[in-house]
Amino acid sequence: MSSTSPQDQLKDALAATGYVADDTLAMALHLAVTLGRPLLLEGPAGVGKTEIARALAEVRQARLIRLQCYEGLDASHAIYEWNYQRQLLAIRAEGAREESLFGDRFLLKRPLLEAISQDTPPVLLIDEIDRADEEFEAYLLEVLSEFQITIPEIGTVTAKARPLVILTANGTRDLSDALRRRCLYTYVDYPDRDTELAILARRGPQIEARLARQIVGVVQALRCEDLEKKPGIAEMLDWAAALAGLGINDLTEDRAALQATLVCLLKTAADRDAAPPEVLDRIIGKVA
Ligand SMILES: Nc1ncnc2c1ncn2[C@@H]1O[C@H](COP(=O)(O)OP(=O)(O)O)[C@@H](O)[C@H]1O
Ligand SMILES: [Mg+2]
Repeated sequence: MSSTSPQDQLKDALAATGYVADDTLAMALHLAVTLGRPLLLEGPAGVGKTEIARALAEVRQARLIRLQCYEGLDASHAIYEWNYQRQLLAIRAEGAREESLFGDRFLLKRPLLEAISQDTPPVLLIDEIDRADEEFEAYLLEVLSEFQITIPEIGTVTAKARPLVILTANGTRDLSDALRRRCLYTYVDYPDRDTELAILARRGPQIEARLARQIVGVVQALRCEDLEKKPGIAEMLDWAAALAGLGINDLTEDRAALQATLVCLLKTAADRDAAPPEVLDRIIGKVA
């Protein structure tokens, strides 16, 4: 059956780039595109939030501009900075006067300014916004409502083509109501079984269906355990690659293989302790 709704078309186009989106996510992306609103994606680490922006840019054949947020991120790293070295050189070499020192030639565009300076709409990924300070978030709100940036020495730069903005957050801190109001919102959770099997089929090594079911079954069961860092999709893919590389094709026949390859899935000492052999045996027993 062919799918015709625009959100289904988007879903298919994303799948063609290797990204498996569920209906909720496909609809949220479709609405963000048609309404021209930023989309805030919240959810645990490793569920494919960052990857969505890459896939969407590929589908739209748009440039992906990424701003990775961190504590202390400020305007000079997010918006623009004057190239002081070049300015100094210009003064020494050409005896440049002050007025000529604040032109495009000396402007270092950082992601936000870069994103609003494009002729065709790029995808602007503001990644892990919850790591930046609240002050930066407030500034970002201004940019997201006006799509313009004022540079005192030059004037106001207004976007010729509005970027499609994707924001991601891992829940490190709560975001302001104002930011949430400005955005469309989707919570991206760990995928369900079938979606994760589809991701493994697209992104993982060539493996038998039985082993694929076991891998996804174990990873999904581990996520239900009380772990500090639940394995994400990247961990699942790493593990599949490890098992394939070791030539293992049935976990129930080779229980030691699971224990030995846990390095791919559990990333803290406490989590290793939380998954002793008895727990792993119980999990393997269920997915067999
Ligand atoms: N829905 C998906 N379809 C295909 N691959 C995915 C999907 N979700 C995650 N992945 C894979 O998992 C990796 C980790 O995803 P990432 O976007 O970094 O997670 P997050 O940003 O949520 O922490 C990606 O590089 C990609 O290979
Ligand atoms: Mg990410």
